[in-house]
Amino acid sequence: MDSALPTTQANAAETSGSNRRDTVTITDNRTGKSYEIPITHDTIRAMDLRQIKVNPTDFGMMSYDPAFNNTAACISRVTYIDGDIGILRYRGYPIEELAEKSTYLETAYLLLHGELPTASELRDFQQHITQHTFIHESFKKLSDGFHYDAHPMGMLISALAALSTFFTDAKDVHNAESRRKQMYRLIGKMPTIAAFSYRHSLGMPFVYPDNDLSYPGNFLNMLFRTSETRYRPNPTLEHALDVLFILHADHEQNCSANTVRGVGSSYVDPYCATAAATAALYGPLHGGANEEVLRMLMEIGSVQKVPEFIKRVKEGEVKLMGFGHRIYKNYDPRARIIKRIAYEVFDLMGKNPLLEIALECERIALEDEYFIRRKLYPNVDFYTGLIYQSMGFPMTMFPVLFAIPRMSGWLAQWEELLLDPEQKIARPRQIYLGHDTRSYVGIDQRS
Ligand code: CMC
Repeated sequence: MDSALPTTQANAAETSGSNRRDTVTITDNRTGKSYEIPITHDTIRAMDLRQIKVNPTDFGMMSYDPAFNNTAACISRVTYIDGDIGILRYRGYPIEELAEKSTYLETAYLLLHGELPTASELRDFQQHITQHTFIHESFKKLSDGFHYDAHPMGMLISALAALSTFFTDAKDVHNAESRRKQMYRLIGKMPTIAAFSYRHSLGMPFVYPDNDLSYPGNFLNMLFRTSETRYRPNPTLEHALDVLFILHADHEQNCSANTVRGVGSSYVDPYCATAAATAALYGPLHGGANEEVLRMLMEIGSVQKVPEFIKRVKEGEVKLMGFGHRIYKNYDPRARIIKRIAYEVFDLMGKNPLLEIALECERIALEDEYFIRRKLYPNVDFYTGLIYQSMGFPMTMFPVLFAIPRMSGWLAQWEELLLDPEQKIARPRQIYLGHDTRSYVGIDQRS
């Protein structure tokens, strides 16, 4: 599907030695007419349906797909997922290998550039990111405008949109050099904004970036440093956070990636586009799920009460948060890695008392007909909350911890969109089933 296809292609590609034609024939039983439509990558173009009409003046056929259950909206070379067998790869590299051998910044480079960096490319990239970790002092005033218990995701969304007013060069979205610069700024500033929001909620002074530390190490510094002259992050926590950042860096066309593409397709600057993506991520069905999982485990309260809760889930009263996925119909490969990391953190910080409840939920769910039939498995959010809580993060920071690394994925998707000659401003169609035209009725005549 890399090149434009003709509308109808009767003599479509034949595989060597067979008469196979990569087309599908649709017969419209309203008219008896048949249409032969090309298939590329197991996909037909929705626009090829438009020729199917009863009368020449008809608009033509569309496809209806609420929530994009079966619609590819782009061609991408960033992330590959096979949800049936639980595979996740960034630019071809399995997530398991990246989690074990890479760092978040190297993975971010990979997502943005398509290839792993050489040593000097990585050094340059790190240098660019650390150069951009500071934020303008007026952000302190912006923070001061928020109530003491403001949710840090709300603050993050606002701060990202506010950044667009500082970097007006970001409007030049068709300039590769400008795009690169905004990417450095966004990846560099995410931890700083997040940490400032956290410190604001505690009423503690902001801690400025320490650019001698690693990306996750500096984040821990800005969050947790108190009176020490030099903050030294605990290596286990620093590594755990780095792996969690790798696991969250991208996930192909999820709700927030779709948002960054949809909003970015209007050519707005990347600060506004990623503010919108962050808002999408905030929802409890997306990145907000990790916070909801913890609330759910606390509500369940004890291992003994798990069966009762699962009963409520099966009756449709509540959801088992951290379970199920639009794409994964198998164990989420990220959840497996996270479970391992969880034990490393618990060995250091002590076991999270909610762990037993989570394990019991998982045990019962994986054996239960309801979950088996619907192919509901733990997703990335099921165990992350437990780790974050053990690391000392308040629940409201959990979605923020998802958003920080997802920035690199959003930016890779955003740039891919801008460079794709087939893309245009996102503008879906609708099936209008509302009233036909009718005349305005004055208020005194309405019953
Ligand atoms: N608990 C109980 N039942 C569920 C759950 C769940 N967590 N998830 C799906 N189902 C049921 C759902 O009720 C439906 O049942 P039925 O066929 O009887 O109507 C069936 O499974 C199919 O679900 P769906 O809602 O059609 O699936 P979806 O692809 O539209 O939704 C989802 C995917 C992730 C929104 C959903 O599974 C869910 O709400 N999970 C809980 C929230 C969550 O953990 N979100 C994090 C997702 S992973 C990280 C990320 O993307 O941000």
